[in-house]
Amino acid sequence: MGVSERPRALVFGEVAEMYEAARPGYAPQLAPVVLEYAGPGGGLDAVEFGAGTGKATLAFAERGVSLSCVEPDPRMAAVLRRRTAGHPSVRVEVESFERWRPAGHYGLLLAATCWHWFDPARRWDLAHAALAPGGALALCWNVLRVRDEGLHARLAEIDRRFGSVASPHAQLVRADRELPGSWDSGEWPAAECRADGRFGDLREIRLREETRYDTRTYLNYLSTVSYYRLLPERRRVRLFEALADAVDGHGGSLAFELATDLFLARRR
Ligand SMILES: C[S@@+](CC[C@H](N)C(=O)[O-])C[C@H]1O[C@@H](n2cnc3c(N)ncnc32)[C@H](O)[C@@H]1O
Repeated sequence: MGVSERPRALVFGEVAEMYEAARPGYAPQLAPVVLEYAGPGGGLDAVEFGAGTGKATLAFAERGVSLSCVEPDPRMAAVLRRRTAGHPSVRVEVESFERWRPAGHYGLLLAATCWHWFDPARRWDLAHAALAPGGALALCWNVLRVRDEGLHARLAEIDRRFGSVASPHAQLVRADRELPGSWDSGEWPAAECRADGRFGDLREIRLREETRYDTRTYLNYLSTVSYYRLLPERRRVRLFEALADAVDGHGGSLAFELATDLFLARRR
C-alpha cells in the first residue's frame, strides 16, 4: 500500500510513542465537566472509543470511572495498556467502533478527537445502542492555535510553499477568526445529533488552556497530525525543516492556545 493510500484514521499508531509524548492533553476541566453532566465518577460505567494512548482516559479513571476502552490500533492500545496499568477499572479492547459489540448499556460514551473518523452512516445508531436511557454522550476535540498571529500566518505560508494548501496551519488561521467564543449552535456535530432526534439536552462547551512548545516538541506534535503523516516522506522532511527554521527564528518556542471543544448529549 502506497504512502497516500493508508487509511487516514489509522496513521496514529505509526508514531504511537511520539503521539503520547508530543500531543497536548485535554483541558483539565474536561473530566469534571463531563462527570457533572453524566453523573459522579464512582459507579459510572463508561465506554471510550478510539481511546488512543489514553490522553482523555486517565482523568476519568482517576475519578473512579469504570472504563471499557476500544481502540483498533494495537500500537496505540499497547501504550494505553501501559498507561492505565495502575487502574484495574480500565479494560482495553483492540477493536473498531463499528465492529465492537456492547456487553451492556453504558452511562457514558466518550470519544476524544475521533468521532469524525467513525462511519457517518452508523455512528449515531451505534452510540444509541451502546448507551443506557439517560446515558451521556461526550465528544471532544482540541482546537490548537499558535498564539502569535504573524508566526501562525508564516507557518501557513510555508505549508503553501510546499504545496499544502488545506494544511492544519491554514485551517487554524481561518478558525482563529471564530475565537474567542463558544461553538455556534447548529454546527456539526450538534446539527447531526439534533437531526437524529434520539438525543436531548445538547450542550457545546469550549474549555480554554494555554501551553508552550519548543521547536522540537512542536515538530514532534506536527508529525502526529494525520494531514502531515500522509505527505510523501521527503516532502514532509523538507517542509518540517522549513517550519522548524521559522519557529527557531521566533526564539525557539511558541505559545499555543488550546481550546477543548466538548459536545454533550443524552440518550432520551
Ligand atoms: C486522533 S487519535 C485520538 C486518540 C485519543 N482519543 C486522544 O484523544 O488522544 C484518533 C484515534 O481514533 C482511532 N480510530 C480511528 N478509526 C477508528 C474507528 N473506526 N473506531 C475506533 N477508533 C478509531 C485511531 O486508532 C486513533 O487512536
